[in-house]
Amino acid sequence: MQVSRSLFDEVMVPNYAPSAVIPAKGLGSRVWDQNGREFIDFAGGIAVNCLGHCHPALVGALKEQADKLWHLSNVMTNEPALILAQKLVNATFAEKVYFANSGAEANEAALKLARRWAKNEVGEHKTQIIAFKQGFHGRTFFTVTVGGQPAYSDGFGPKPADIVHAEYNNLASFEALISDNTCAVMLEPLQGEGGIITPTKEFIQGVAALCKKHNALMIFDEVQSGVGRTGELYAYMGLGVVPDILTTAKALGGGFPIGAMLTTTAIAKHLVVGTHGSTYGGNPLACAVGIAAFDTVNTPEVLNGVKQREQLFREGLTAINAKYDVFSEIRGQGLLIGAALNDKYQGKARDFMLAAADEGLMMLVAGYSVIRMTPSLIIPEADIAEGFKRLEKAVAKMVQA
Ligand SMILES: Cc1ncc(COP(=O)(O)O)c(C=O)c1O
Repeated sequence: MQVSRSLFDEVMVPNYAPSAVIPAKGLGSRVWDQNGREFIDFAGGIAVNCLGHCHPALVGALKEQADKLWHLSNVMTNEPALILAQKLVNATFAEKVYFANSGAEANEAALKLARRWAKNEVGEHKTQIIAFKQGFHGRTFFTVTVGGQPAYSDGFGPKPADIVHAEYNNLASFEALISDNTCAVMLEPLQGEGGIITPTKEFIQGVAALCKKHNALMIFDEVQSGVGRTGELYAYMGLGVVPDILTTAKALGGGFPIGAMLTTTAIAKHLVVGTHGSTYGGNPLACAVGIAAFDTVNTPEVLNGVKQREQLFREGLTAINAKYDVFSEIRGQGLLIGAALNDKYQGKARDFMLAAADEGLMMLVAGYSVIRMTPSLIIPEADIAEGFKRLEKAVAKMVQA
């Protein structure tokens, strides 16, 4: 069956506005559309394709598992889930793992666990959740309400209650909200969707100290920043703090849907049998791919390579800016990079993204005025160089327009 973009408008719910291009094949950091037109991929499926497209280790793991066992449900556990959980426990602060299918689901589990922990440990009154403006935590009704953009949660009826928002990187604004009634604080240790905002160490450490003082749990949403994206396995590892709960998804499966919530034994014990669950969470196919992705990313070679590639991206953006004067700031960490457009191009991030696509480069936006790049963690240098050639052509056209 031949399909085209117009079919989207006929048969799909109109909550997305996808590009006119329909990619049909990918390999490494290159993608080809239905007509064989090639793109360099600086988008990485929004920080998901951490090893590019069709990495042999992931393809091999999926094929091998596909011949063994696909699904059981959580009535029985399975080998890949146990192995992946053991690896996550070995590599992080965590002692316990809960598997979900997406970032939002991992966050939903984290928030429910925090509420249950507070109720059991302290009392019914300890329900307040503090999150941060511009933060993003997913699209379930609880997580989207915890997210810091009310426009995303407005218009769906009564919202989950007792959720407030502080200013990111502003400790005073956080301190003004926290109290002994606070059950948890949820934050991204590098805001992604909100515009690629790196936290200061003082802010993060101040949040951690206040959580301790008020006996509130600190939940790090590492759905975008985790699995090597910042050059650390998880971003918290570079910040001098340890969260109580951490959520991870996106790159965890390198493109196969999986999410996880990590925590300690003392906190996890409140999610007793029957309190939470998921039919597919911990699915053998997803976990088998997750093991391969985790083993491949969690090596000094890949993690150090992220930092080297960050330099190449910064140099590429800086060189374009020196010639065309379009960015006010190049920011982010590792391969979660944002270039904020200067005053002249406010609100035009999407136009830059579309111009880049016209030149054969896939990239992203973060809000209306920041272009975002979250490529494969192992994108070859030659693809970075070619991508920047294409980006320069796109920027030249935008500047002339
Ligand atoms: C920080 C963060 N948390 C949660 C989510 C939601 O993840 P998912 O779309 O897999 O539900 C995202 C997605 O962009 C994210 O960036």
